[in-house]
Amino acid sequence: MEDQIVNNMPRIGEKAPDFEVVTTTGTLKLSDYNQGSWVIMFSHPADFTPVCTTEMSAFAQQKNWFADRNTKLLGLSIDSIHSHLAWVNNVREKTDVYMDFPIIADLDMKVANLYGMLHPQESTTAAVRAVFFIDPKGIIRLIMYYPLNVGRNMEEIQRSLIALQTADECHCALPVNWKPGDMAIVPPPKTLVEMDERIANTEYEKVDFYLAKKSLNN
Ligand code: BEZ
Repeated sequence: MEDQIVNNMPRIGEKAPDFEVVTTTGTLKLSDYNQGSWVIMFSHPADFTPVCTTEMSAFAQQKNWFADRNTKLLGLSIDSIHSHLAWVNNVREKTDVYMDFPIIADLDMKVANLYGMLHPQESTTAAVRAVFFIDPKGIIRLIMYYPLNVGRNMEEIQRSLIALQTADECHCALPVNWKPGDMAIVPPPKTLVEMDERIANTEYEKVDFYLAKKSLNN
């Protein structure tokens, strides 16, 4: 199996590699799905497994929250479409949660290899728990990898999405543990003149000229 794994790791800032695949909602081409909206693509190791069921259910329960933020969901595992359909139906019957966003049936590992989701020391046949944040221009903006035995944090996924969108809007950076309502970092000065302007500035909350924050609410 290991010889089937391609050592490919997309990087932040790169164009998301395109693909056309079979999913639980039909054939899907990433570049079409991504047109004009954010896409969060996430892999899970296997259908009918407990941690994956909690994670995928959490995504389904937050689908409207993501839609309100112009974001589409896209799941993936190295399972067949029949397995996906049976699992989605089982979860719906048992818990009333309907995982109706597209889930890629990546049996040939095409997408898992394209996105570096196979980490052989974890498994040569199951994808790790990856999350790719892809912006409306098709650029990969943030990547998370979790191992097989630790579920992801939905609050952090949502915080990360809001942070990316906010940083884009305000052309600023966001400090540790930033959450909506918190101040943003003003880009540090790049010249001596800018430094003196920053030192004289009374508008920002300043630790020093290189660490200044501003409110995003006005
Ligand atoms: C789980 O989702 O529970 C799981 C899947 C693969 C390996 C370990 C745990």
